[in-house]
Amino acid sequence: MVDPTPEAPPGGEWNASALPLHVQAPQPPPAPAGYYDAAPPAADAAPLRLEARGVRKVYRTGSVEVEALAGVDLSVAAGELVAVMGASGSGKTTLLNCLSGLDEIDDGEVFVDGVDIQRLPDAKRTEHRARSMGFVFQAFNLIPVFTAVENVELPMLLVGTPAKEARERASEILARVGLGDRLGNRPNEMSGGEQQRTTVARALVTEPSIVWADEPTGNLDTHTAQTVLDLLWELNDHGQTLIVVTHDPAIGDSAARVVNMRDGSVIADRVQEKRRVEASR
Ligand SMILES: Nc1ncnc2c1ncn2[C@@H]1O[C@H](COP(=O)(O)OP(=O)(O)OP(=O)(O)O)[C@@H](O)[C@H]1O
Ligand SMILES: [Mg+2]
Repeated sequence: MVDPTPEAPPGGEWNASALPLHVQAPQPPPAPAGYYDAAPPAADAAPLRLEARGVRKVYRTGSVEVEALAGVDLSVAAGELVAVMGASGSGKTTLLNCLSGLDEIDDGEVFVDGVDIQRLPDAKRTEHRARSMGFVFQAFNLIPVFTAVENVELPMLLVGTPAKEARERASEILARVGLGDRLGNRPNEMSGGEQQRTTVARALVTEPSIVWADEPTGNLDTHTAQTVLDLLWELNDHGQTLIVVTHDPAIGDSAARVVNMRDGSVIADRVQEKRRVEASR
């Protein structure tokens, strides 16, 4: 017997492979010049740091439901620099929160260094995050009563690094981001850029597998933003995996790979042949 022509399943959800040839599945927007679609990683490629499959997140406020992530797949290999872009409300921060395990998801799977983080009990997940991830947020999230060096050593103390070693490493990394002479300053005794560099130092001090940044230059002036970007991009040159959420086109232009989101979905995932290390903000 000949197979019947496939029909739309109830609810109208189409499976592209079941479509007759003359029906086109929705296509992503064409790639701009200089970009090409990110290929699936080759078998001999760098190990995957992050692998997310079918991640769904629904926010419920009273009787209103917002599907902030509508089944996102994303793989990031060691050493990649990925800019996540999209309009306000498209789900970028939600993606960061859900893929880093800061927030619960409603469906899907997230592996960080092969560990299914959503299945870890809370305490283990927090520990895994403290060891393998660093965060640079737009609001600096520095603890106001702590000095720069105390803020930076905190993540190490949380994972049991001895105090003396934590102090030494915090001092070293602050020197590396150009703040060797600000160790004893509290956040309100530093400029915006110095505070953001302290945040970068804190994100890196545990040598995490992935650093997540959400609008890392959002409230900085052009010059300071460039300093912070230079620092992040230099870290990537040394092999640090970075996922940067932003709507700054200058960051998108200078990132090796750009993931575009719209309405909770990834609508394009492209690598650029050339990246420029400059910001025009
Ligand atoms: N805690 C929350 N409760 C309810 N709805 C939320 C919550 N956080 C986000 N949303 C909704 O989820 C959607 C995605 O929000 P998200 O913060 O991820 O967007 P975004 O792309 O980061 O935007 P922006 O560029 O403005 O930071 C939006 O519609 C938003 O209103
Ligand atoms: Mg956001």
